[in-house]
Amino acid sequence: MSGLSVRGRAAPVPTAILADLLDFQADPGLVDPISAAVRWRPAHWLLIDATGRIAAVQPEAPGDDWLKLDRSGQLLMPGFIDTHVHSPQLDVIASWGTELLDWLERYTFPAEARHADPDFARAAAALFLDALLAHGSTSAVVFPTVHLASTEALFEAARDRGMRLVTGKVLMDRNAPEALRDDVVQAERDCRAQIARWHGVGRLAYAVTPRFAVTSSPAQLSMAGRLLADHPGVYLQTHVAENRAEVAWIAELFPEARSYLDVYAGHGLLTERSVLAHGIWLDDADRRLLQQTGAQIAFCPSSNLFLGSGLFGWQQAAAQGVNVSLASDVGGGTSLAMLRNLADGYKLQAMAGQRLSAWALLHAATRGAAQALRLDQEIGSLEPGLMADACLWDWAVGPVALRRDGLARELHERVFAWMMLGDERNLVECWVGGVSRYLRT
Ligand code: GUN
Ligand code: ZN
Repeated sequence: MSGLSVRGRAAPVPTAILADLLDFQADPGLVDPISAAVRWRPAHWLLIDATGRIAAVQPEAPGDDWLKLDRSGQLLMPGFIDTHVHSPQLDVIASWGTELLDWLERYTFPAEARHADPDFARAAAALFLDALLAHGSTSAVVFPTVHLASTEALFEAARDRGMRLVTGKVLMDRNAPEALRDDVVQAERDCRAQIARWHGVGRLAYAVTPRFAVTSSPAQLSMAGRLLADHPGVYLQTHVAENRAEVAWIAELFPEARSYLDVYAGHGLLTERSVLAHGIWLDDADRRLLQQTGAQIAFCPSSNLFLGSGLFGWQQAAAQGVNVSLASDVGGGTSLAMLRNLADGYKLQAMAGQRLSAWALLHAATRGAAQALRLDQEIGSLEPGLMADACLWDWAVGPVALRRDGLARELHERVFAWMMLGDERNLVECWVGGVSRYLRT
């Protein structure tokens, strides 16, 4: 292919890429295929400086001191941001026949128990991050396992790749197998040590990570709240209101709470850096709480379909001003490719009576996610000063997609067909902080 010598180097060389650039300069809304928020710059050069940041976007070629890559006719977008994914669950992706609670018990917990072994965890973390990059996601909010070894391995592997990663040791002290349980005192000590070691180091951030209120005692949830209160800027990630049996169990475990989300609110876990996966079974009062706190919902369409969890109400969430991002939730989801998840998201919302624009979906996986994570000064668009996390895509792979692409009459039609028909096979190259980290062979 390109014979690029910069791939995987520790520092980027000043590089200029000529391609068709697509990103967003505002929120395009949910349904309008014509939007001033869309920034379409065909046949433009993206200039990446030696610090790995975007230096400029311009129609004319830069001077001789730039390494020039002519990728005319290919699509260059910000790297996708997967706001909810489980690194140990590549091993259980596509496991048959269960809803959430049985799926956890039968497949997921046994697979996660293997990550107590540091060598196993290191190999798994490397495989996982390389797979994310090979699917076009350059940033992610990730659940490892309860084991320190798996979190350490993930932070180290992300640091080695220069990736923006948000993660933290999973907290779970009940309703789980012995090999996956921690306790409040030791877990607090471990989290404080990990926050000191990793939060704010390079592009890494810590997320306090109670798995969900089923597997954390009230004492552990209170401890998680203390960690957040003591460390402004640290994230919170968890699951909420995904599955009806799960919601019923929460009502038994926390009879005093008004709702599932209220359990988290009551323990001080809702902040503008909280990422809550799913949020299918929420009501208006819950959505008000999300809006007031600035917490976001990570909509996980592939997982919601695969586990039969339900229809997320994006329209209601948007109407109440809730931040919504897109996520794969692998291994509940069946693909790391955000393109596949976006296509599933379109179909799920169609079932709910809403035809989302390609812009709404792509925005939620790039600039929208970056804003919800308060990281839009670093990632999510092709703007000078931001990190050069970008992916180069073929518009079409295979005879059907090629034919459809050739028939598209305007931009939204073309991008929508790309989004619905594309997957990781369309990915040509992926840069993280200006360094080429994936190149299709
Ligand atoms: N709820 C608690 N744990 C999990 C998990 O690993 N995956 C999903 N989809 N939901 C969860
Ligand atoms: Zn999940």
